[in-house]
Parts: sequence; C-alpha cells; structure tokens
Amino acid sequence: MAGGKSVLGELRARFHAALSGLVDSTAEYLALIHRSQSERFGDYQADLAMPLAKRLGKKPRDLAAQIVARLDVADLAEPPELAGPGFINLRLKDDYLVRRVNALIHDERLGAPTVETPRTFVLDYSAPNVAKPMHVGHIRSTVIGDALYRTLQFVGHRVISDNHIGDWGTQFGMILYGYRHFLDAEAYRRNPVAELARIYRVVRRLMDYHESKAALPAREAEAERRRAAVQELRARLASADEKTRPKVEKELRRAEAAPADAERDWQAAKALIAEVEADPQWSAWAAAHPDIGKAVLAETAKLHAGDAENLRLWREFLPHSRDEMERVYRRLGIRFDHTLGESFYHDQLPALTEELLRRGIARVSDGAVCIFFDDLPAPMIIRKQDGAFLYASTDLATLRWRMENWRPDAILYVVDHRQSLHFRQLFAAARMLGYRDVTLEHVSFGTVLGEDGRPFRTRAGDTVGLESLLDEAVRRAAEIVAANDDAKPQGPELSPEERRRVAEVVGIGALKYADLSQNRSSDYVFSYDKMLAMTGNTGTYMQYAYARIQNIFAKGGVDIAALRASGHAIRLTHPAERALILEILRFPEAVELVLEDYRPHQLTAYLFELANRFSTFYQECPVLQAPSPEVRAGRLLLCDVTGRVIRRGLQLLGIETVDRM
Ligand code: ARG
Repeated sequence: MAGGKSVLGELRARFHAALSGLVDSTAEYLALIHRSQSERFGDYQADLAMPLAKRLGKKPRDLAAQIVARLDVADLAEPPELAGPGFINLRLKDDYLVRRVNALIHDERLGAPTVETPRTFVLDYSAPNVAKPMHVGHIRSTVIGDALYRTLQFVGHRVISDNHIGDWGTQFGMILYGYRHFLDAEAYRRNPVAELARIYRVVRRLMDYHESKAALPAREAEAERRRAAVQELRARLASADEKTRPKVEKELRRAEAAPADAERDWQAAKALIAEVEADPQWSAWAAAHPDIGKAVLAETAKLHAGDAENLRLWREFLPHSRDEMERVYRRLGIRFDHTLGESFYHDQLPALTEELLRRGIARVSDGAVCIFFDDLPAPMIIRKQDGAFLYASTDLATLRWRMENWRPDAILYVVDHRQSLHFRQLFAAARMLGYRDVTLEHVSFGTVLGEDGRPFRTRAGDTVGLESLLDEAVRRAAEIVAANDDAKPQGPELSPEERRRVAEVVGIGALKYADLSQNRSSDYVFSYDKMLAMTGNTGTYMQYAYARIQNIFAKGGVDIAALRASGHAIRLTHPAERALILEILRFPEAVELVLEDYRPHQLTAYLFELANRFSTFYQECPVLQAPSPEVRAGRLLLCDVTGRVIRRGLQLLGIETVDRM
C-alpha cells in the first residue's frame, strides 16, 4: 500500500493537474483543500480559488469555474459545485467510498501511505534529571515524544530517540553533600533509591530555607511596594471622574491580581521558614549548615573537575537512579534507542569552547565565554567566569555529536515551553557552527496544573513521584473496571488476573491520552476523574469503543479473520454507514496532521470523532440482526475496520487496547 494515496492525497493530485500551467508551485494552494465544515458543502472543499485569483489578478469565481472545468474527478466524485466567492465543493461518489474502504480489509496500514522521501529524525524527549524525583512534567515530554517517535516511524522515516538525561548537574552536588552529612547508612543499604531521594529532599529543603531567609528583606520591601501601589490606585479611584474611572479600575484590578502569584510563593517561603524553625531537628540542621548552597556548588565543581572520590560516588549513585527510571519506562511501554546523558559530553566541552573562540563564534566577556546574537535578548554562556560549563554548553556539544554521528535531517526537542529562549540560542549557535540544512525544532509544551490551577506537584514526602502517579491511575482504573464488570447483565466476565491487567492498560492509557489529547501548547489541568471518564474524549472511552467492537464478534460467535478472507464486502446501505466510512478514510489525514507541526492531539480528536460516528452507526444499523446475511457480513467488516483503525491510532499514541473490559 506504500505507494497508494489517501483520499485527500488523491484529490490534491487531481487539483495539482488542474492547476498546472496556472502556477509553478501548487503546494500552498493544495494545502487549502480540506474536509468540509458541514455536509452542506459536500465531503471536501477547496478554498484555493480566492488566493490564487488574487495572485493572478483574476475574478475568483471565474477562476474557480476554470479550475473545475479542468478538474478530472469523474471517477471519484459527483460534479463539483461552486459556492460563495469561489469555493469548490466535492461530494465523493458512494461506489468510490465503498471501493476504498474495502481495500482496507486486508491493509495493515489502514490506507496510510508511507512518505516518498524518508528523512532521518533525532528525537530528544523525556530527559529527566536523574537522582531527583521525577514528576508529572516529565510524563508530558515522554508521552508526546514517544507518540511522535511512533508516528514518524509509521510513515516511513528513520527515527532515532535519544534520552538526554540530566546525569551531571547540581543535583549530584546536592546528593554528594547529603551523602556526607545526612545519610542513614542502614536505609541506604536497604533501599538506595529511596534514601538518595530522601537526602536530596533534606538538602533541597535546607537550601530553600537559607535562600528564602536571605531573600526575606527584599521580598518584604517588594510586598510593601505593591501594597502601596494598590493603596494609591484605590485613592485615585475614589477621586476619579467618569472619564478616567474605567482606566484606573483596570489598573487597580491588574495591580491587585499581579502580586497574587508572587504573594503565594512568598507565603510558601514564610511557611517553610516557620516550619524549619519550629522543628528542633530541622532548625539544628539549618544552623549547622549555613553555607549549604555554596557547599553544594563546590561538590558539583569537584565532581566536574574529576575528583576521584566524588566520581566514585557518582558512579555508585547513577545506576540506582537509572534502574528507577527504567522501571517507570517499562511500565509506560517506552524504550529509547540511546540514552546519552549530559555526562557523556563532559570531556568534549573544553575543545568545543576552544573551537568556538578560535572561529570567532564566541568571545570572552567579563571573564565568561559567550556567544552573542543580533536578534536575541541574551547571550548564550558557554563557560562561566569560574570555569564551569552549563546546560547550554552541553546541549551545543550534544547537537554537534548528533550531527557528526547520525547526520540527521531534523532534530526535535520535546521540552517544556519555559526553555524556549535556550533553544532559540542553541539553534542560532548551531547555524553559526555551520549546521545550516538541518531542521531544528523546539516542540514545546505547556505546564501540567493541579486542580487548584497551580503547577501540579505530587504530595510532598513521596519517594517516587511519578510511580505513585501511575499507581494511583491504575488503582482508580481498577475500581472502574470492577464496577463495569460487576454491572454486566450476564454477570462478571473477567478473572481477578484479567481485571488487574485491564486496569493497568486502562490506567496508563488514560494518563497518556489525557496528555496527548491536549493541544501541547496549552497548560492543562490534571484530573484523575476526568481522564478516567467513560464518556467524552478520554482514553477510557476509546478503549471501551474498541472492546465494544470485539464484544460484537464474541457475542455473534464471529470468526473475524475467516470473515475477512471470505470475500464478503462492506456495502453502503445507510447514511450512518456512509458517515462512518468517510471518517475511516480520513485516518491518513489525521496522521499527516499530527506530523504537520507535531501535535498528537490531532489524532485523538480524529479517533474521538471516529468513535462517535461508530456509535451513531451502531445505534442506527443493526449488525448481528442485520436484514440480510450480506448486509450482516458487510457491517461486521465495517466494525472490524473501525476497530483496527482505533487500535492502530492508539498504538501510534503508545496506548494499548484490550478485547474485554
Ligand atoms: N534535563 C532537562 C530538564 O529536565 C531537559 C533536557 C531536554 N533536552 C535537551 N537536549 N536540552 O529540564
């Protein structure tokens, strides 16, 4: 099927032919052919006549008529209709739809073509900082990255995933320091990961305490200044006249709202200070480690300078954290082709710095080695005054290593939106190094929020943030699966073992789907209840739709593989069948949309629409009780193709299905 075209691809090819002679490059106009918003405008519509007429200096409606006259679609569509200023509406012929959908009965790819020119992609995603408890933000990068990996591979690209873990950063300075001062040796022997996480948190908290304490006077002054500003605006409002009142009101509202976040952080800092000081153990620690921030930096610097003891400890800690990470990945069903962390590049940094200086790409400024950019607000610091390298230096070395070793056509970084300046700098620096042809893209995403609208954090005190998140999702899924199974009219069908397996698939699937179904650019609110809902655009609903189809076969005693081979065909006897078939045939479009700008929610939106059309079909068209054996067989095959599209689509998203739930 690799050479075949999707329905949309076919239409584009026909329009391409019709446009030849009118314009040299048709791509931008062909992009304006799309699925119709409403049935009134047919199945597909082409909105290309207006912009093209403008370019050619013609009347849109005349041009549209001219295009239609040259358009050869008689084998697949009814005669095109012109509407409005020059829209071209197409209604596909029923026999064309039937022919296309029947071709899917034996098509593993469900109509999705592979690309003509495969490219090599490097995908950079997940990349947690090891030895620091993982949190929900890491799920986002991991899940989006994995979906893109699968989808790019599905359409025939060569894809290399590389987990750029943070295994060399300040967190190791913190753990080294904690190891020397707070270690419970017995606990470390029993459960090293948990003990390392604990000492990490002790050090983190003491650092936060001292930082908050040091920032106290400045924060206090800042808060005072804000209060004064609000006071002043209130006074101005009281004496404002009709004309200025709305403006002052607006300013006041802004002044009152703006500090809310800062105020909250501030309150949290004060609470932390109070808690530490109220606790004898903590206040003793705080008093005994006044310079902990500096000491931690010194430990990190020693590690980076090759100090034997710190390196030995680092080598001892690392595998524990890696095992921990691997467990989470296994559970999520995710694997990487490579895991070359930050430490892998450490030795390359001095030479890279020299080269940047030699080639005049970087220069020394205030003792630091920096790359300056004309069009970016800040320079990229490669080496600090004190000789330390940074996250950015490593990323540049990483980029270069990937270019030299994998020669990719594109590198995609699935990283949260707060790092956007970093990536603009990195990409600009890469161009200066001479990597001009490679596509570099920051596939950024928003923040995961708690139900209070603040960034989502797992409960303090959790040793393993991410794992407990998975556990909770699976635990809740288990309740839903059990309730659902208990409520079956013929009584429960699942063994305890099956229930456990289904709960794992449903819980993890819901978690992934909740993330993937959001436009990645926006923040989203994490809610177990919403993501596990049986209705609406959720993973649970999609998995249920799939299982429901398998259940039809089970109930009817249908051997679906035999039916596929039987020579029976899908027929079109009802409008609900037509609507479903049309949607099935759109699967390749959804895949294409995902890859257009790396947005997996295009696929979830498609699957949701597909499941809804299936629902309507199933309500309106009896399947097992169909009016004739031929119609019954055709409808069963239609169910089968629908189920396979759902399963394939979910698989591209990294989500599993079960036959019964
Ligand atoms: N470890 C980083 C973090 O947790 C993300 C790394 C992303 N990848 C990269 N090449 N910079 O923020």
